Amino acid sequence: MSVWKRNSLRAVHKLNGFANKHILAKAPWKPSSKPFIHAAFWATSRTYRVWRFDVSASAKDKLVLALPKGRILEEVMPIVRGAGIEPEADFFDSKSRKLSFATNHENMEIIRVRSFDVATFVAFGAAHMGVAGADVLMEFDNPEIYAPLDLGIGYCRMSIAEPVELGQEDDPSTWSHVRVATKYPEITKKHFAARGVQAECIKLNGAMELAPAMGLCSRIVDLVSTGATLKANGLVEVETIAEITSRLAVNRTAWKTRPQEIGGWIERFREAIDAQAS
Ligand code: PRP
Repeated sequence: MSVWKRNSLRAVHKLNGFANKHILAKAPWKPSSKPFIHAAFWATSRTYRVWRFDVSASAKDKLVLALPKGRILEEVMPIVRGAGIEPEADFFDSKSRKLSFATNHENMEIIRVRSFDVATFVAFGAAHMGVAGADVLMEFDNPEIYAPLDLGIGYCRMSIAEPVELGQEDDPSTWSHVRVATKYPEITKKHFAARGVQAECIKLNGAMELAPAMGLCSRIVDLVSTGATLKANGLVEVETIAEITSRLAVNRTAWKTRPQEIGGWIERFREAIDAQAS
């Protein structure tokens, strides 16, 4: 026997030993005869392929609706119910740590995530549909998201604001460069660029109204609803960038591959909005 052949056989024996000890001993489908290593790998890779197929198949089967946490959830629930979707009881239990919930439809589940994450889940197809504010969708600006329905809830505006004292003498038409604290750097940059103003954005995730008082910048771009937060922090609006409401967002690929199902839900949401309005 050549040295090469002897070494090869030793290697196969070693691998068989390893496979018996570490792979096959733990596998529920351990065969009775001594396997060769390639058989073990064939079996494991085949099992993996079957398992992977099962997981993706079941995940694909269920339609996932992403809803935003926080204030907007209260407003959106009457529409969700109007469309005939009722989440399991845990969904309303503030102590529950669950993040995905069954519904009265066997093939639909709801996930509850931050509003910006609704857009991410829908854009990547991890959720087929979702509810997100126009602010989030504009900032995200992802071509995989289609927003066919204005739900007419969560009304507010996106505005530029600055300290009251500055507002008394400021003339926005003279701005050439501004430093702005915002959760929306993309929208802000586009808005100012369209007017020929260079915007330097400081990204914050909340409490934007604090930024001018703390010396971070003179101006902010944020959502304004009642105006109470601006007032409480000595700020005034100087310009509105956009009117904002919540939208039903849909993953484009999902809509193409499951047109009847997703089209049917869009129709149900449309009917729910109309029923609320009348
Ligand atoms: C939003 C927004 C403002 C506030 C405006 O913040 O960012 O801070 O509401 O509402 P008002 O005009 O009625 O006072 P939110 O409370 O959603 O929290 P956030 O700061 O974490 O975004």
